[in-house]
Amino acid sequence: MGFVIAVIISYLIGSISFSYLIAKQIAGIDIRSHGSGNAGATNTLRVLGKGPGILVLVLDALKGLAAMGIAHWITGGDPVSYAFAGIFAIVGHNWPIFFGFRGGKGIATTLGVALGLSPLAFLIAAVITVIVIAITRYVSLGSLVFVTLLPVLLWFLTDHPIYPLVSLLITVFAYVRHSSNIVNLVQGKERKLGDKSQRTP
Ligand code: G3P
Repeated sequence: MGFVIAVIISYLIGSISFSYLIAKQIAGIDIRSHGSGNAGATNTLRVLGKGPGILVLVLDALKGLAAMGIAHWITGGDPVSYAFAGIFAIVGHNWPIFFGFRGGKGIATTLGVALGLSPLAFLIAAVITVIVIAITRYVSLGSLVFVTLLPVLLWFLTDHPIYPLVSLLITVFAYVRHSSNIVNLVQGKERKLGDKSQRTP
């Protein structure tokens, strides 16, 4: 029963679309109608600038951590509930019940979940991701690198086999949500970080 309550709460927490709420509050716009159309930190950065983008990144990451913290508390530290709480926060972020099931691509929330599963795995994957983004200026490519590394790192760095297994689901979600980015990357049409010419006013 604790597991069910934990994942429901996690899904509801994940469903709070901070990019939507902040863009509405700051600029009176639906973030999903601007830039890439994604309700996430990268698109908030693209459309509204650094401050709002970083705020969304932090708040979306905290959703993952908060969901896992609550699951830990409800279940008395059950690792399966803990890991699935992270997954369900990402599901809520991607398909939010409060916003017509049109959410983001789950990466910021995944960062929080990864931190909750293994700070060391998070750190290694994050450093490599930042390097990839700095070199290529493709956030989406960095996101895909992060979710590809995560299950591998968790396999070697954690004691719970459930963590890398669950994180494989995170990887699948991320690839599915980035399908249009992958096509754009292959075709050389992907938006680059800081590319003002592609920023929707
Ligand atoms: O986290 C989302 C990022 O990887 C891509 O976002 O808006 O460029 O499609 P976007």
